[in-house]
Amino acid sequence: MIVITGASRGIGKYLFNHFIEAGEVVLGTFNSTYPEPAEKEYFTKVNISNYSDVTKWIDIIKDKISKLILINCAGNNYNSFAHKSDIDTWSNVINVNLIGTFNVIRAVLPIMREQGYGRIINFASIVAQVGIPGTSAYATSKAGLWGLVKSIAVENAKRGITINNLNLGYFDIGMIKEVPLEFQEKIKHKIPGGDFGDPVDIIKAVSFLIETDYINGSSIDVNGGIL
Ligand SMILES: NC(=O)c1ccc[n+]([C@@H]2O[C@H](COP(=O)([O-])OP(=O)(O)OC[C@H]3O[C@@H](n4cnc5c(N)ncnc54)[C@H](OP(=O)(O)O)[C@@H]3O)[C@@H](O)[C@H]2O)c1
Repeated sequence: MIVITGASRGIGKYLFNHFIEAGEVVLGTFNSTYPEPAEKEYFTKVNISNYSDVTKWIDIIKDKISKLILINCAGNNYNSFAHKSDIDTWSNVINVNLIGTFNVIRAVLPIMREQGYGRIINFASIVAQVGIPGTSAYATSKAGLWGLVKSIAVENAKRGITINNLNLGYFDIGMIKEVPLEFQEKIKHKIPGGDFGDPVDIIKAVSFLIETDYINGSSIDVNGGIL
């Protein structure tokens, strides 16, 4: 079974639709973007930064869980120079992208350990690998995922569980659409192939991690060779 957080928009929705079409059992979460009526039965409203919200959701679905693949897509962003930033908005990015991702992992790990199988895939970012003005909250939240997977991988490797990050570059989906067009063009000039990534490559990378037992605790660049 595949569980996708943040499946209401962007990459999460794209992966959700792909795996449904592939005939997999998929459950998703949304927070503020309500799913289409036809999709309602697959979705639960969960604010991942609230641990009790997360545990209530896992309690509801736990009897259905078998051979769980967790894809953590939920995330948010805040653009502001650090010295001008609003401290609550800045902290919220950490609360969602880092602590929220951990909340979901924390809630499912006991089930994965008991069942002797698990796949956990998170999305880190090129933004944490290069300095980009205005991204201190987002970059910090994504850099934290690199340490997180290292520790959790060694704690759970003997239980058939792997946990990895994909460090995404710029893809033609999701958050990038909020970036002004002029700035999008500037970003494209930095990408060796001159264009954003095709989201189908995210599916390929996710599927590779699902199928491969011996990749664990890794953070793999999927960025078209951008420096
Ligand atoms: N797109 C890219 O090129 C790119 C590059 C690098 C990394 N990433 C990472 O990939 C992941 C998906 O990105 P995206 O571009 O698809 O983002 P997106 O289009 O902005 O979608 C974000 C998703 O996260 C959910 N979400 C936000 N806050 C939440 C909260 N507190 N609790 C639960 N869900 C919450 C949203 O749900 P609602 O709309 O229902 O609130 C939405 O489904 C993110 O972690 C992002 O950092 C993306």
